[in-house]
Amino acid sequence: MVLGGAGFIGSHCTEELVKQGHEVVVVDNLFLGRKENLESVKDKIEFCKEDYCNKEFLEKKIREQGTEYVFHFAGFSSAPMFDGKEAEGIEKNITGFAQLSRLCADHGVKRVLYASSSSIYGDLKKQVEDAKVFPPNFYAMTKYAMEHTARLFWQEQGLESIGFRFFSVYGKNEKHKGRFANLVSQFLWALQEGNEMIIYGDGEQTRDFTYVLDIVKAMILGMKAEEEKAKANIYNVGTEKSYSLNELCNVLERETGLKGRRKYIENPLKNYVEHTKADTSKIKRELGFEAEYDLSNGVSEILSDSKKKTRRF
Ligand SMILES: NC(=O)c1ccc[n+]([C@@H]2O[C@H](COP(=O)([O-])OP(=O)(O)OC[C@H]3O[C@@H](n4cnc5c(N)ncnc54)[C@H](O)[C@@H]3O)[C@@H](O)[C@H]2O)c1
Repeated sequence: MVLGGAGFIGSHCTEELVKQGHEVVVVDNLFLGRKENLESVKDKIEFCKEDYCNKEFLEKKIREQGTEYVFHFAGFSSAPMFDGKEAEGIEKNITGFAQLSRLCADHGVKRVLYASSSSIYGDLKKQVEDAKVFPPNFYAMTKYAMEHTARLFWQEQGLESIGFRFFSVYGKNEKHKGRFANLVSQFLWALQEGNEMIIYGDGEQTRDFTYVLDIVKAMILGMKAEEEKAKANIYNVGTEKSYSLNELCNVLERETGLKGRRKYIENPLKNYVEHTKADTSKIKRELGFEAEYDLSNGVSEILSDSKKKTRRF
């Protein structure tokens, strides 16, 4: 079962699970995601337009389907979405997850693989799983609370789970996220449409940009890992290489062959994170994960995919 499977990362995960021969039910209320993201697998999955917080629906579905694994991407998926909607975001991200975990524990789901986030780290220098963290915004706080919810369901109910702290994910199928999309996508769209790439501050802030297929690969390794690795475990997923926004613009210009216009403005955001860089030694050591894509490869994948689409239509 893939919750939030019509969204950006969830749709890639669904495609890969189908490719590997799994029977997949997608639950998505289309709050932000789009069914078009599932075009390539639409005849091979069951799609349910539902809120994953609908307890009666979810319980019935898990029981009927005999769900073994739940991949969870649903809820408020970025920090700005919480602005003025803090209570709703907390309900969708934390309360919904607690309810989901209870249902999974009660109905024999083998394992829950869920999206946490690197935003939990804020501006910490060492972004490693056992660091003491102070989530810098409501979004990050909900992810932190989800991790502890998972820990308690493991300790009290024996529910297996793995949370993945994704670092800045980019790739295709992100159009629906609009201004909430990753900077790689936003700058790429600006470049292709002749608009300015808006950069906060001097552009020297850095991000560990992770290609979406590397995220999917990590989660599927988590699904297949031995039980020992699924006792409410947490893993970073990133590349261990960071790029400044200025460097990002250079890579995009090089890969597209287009010359962009950069506009530097004063940073309007509070608690802005200046630098992110994953320490991935734990996931390498325990799950054998290695990121396959660097930023240039990832961008060129997106570009070759959009060329194929243009040719087809
Ligand atoms: N994209 C990133 O860079 C990134 C980084 C770290 C963590 N994450 C996390 O990964 C997950 C997926 O992110 P994404 O970028 O694919 O975002 P997304 O918004 O594209 O995906 C979320 C999907 O969940 C659906 N959804 C939202 N609320 C729902 C609900 N109550 N019931 C059913 N469906 C619901 C949306 O319609 C959407 O299709 C999120 O939990 C996000 O917090 C993303």
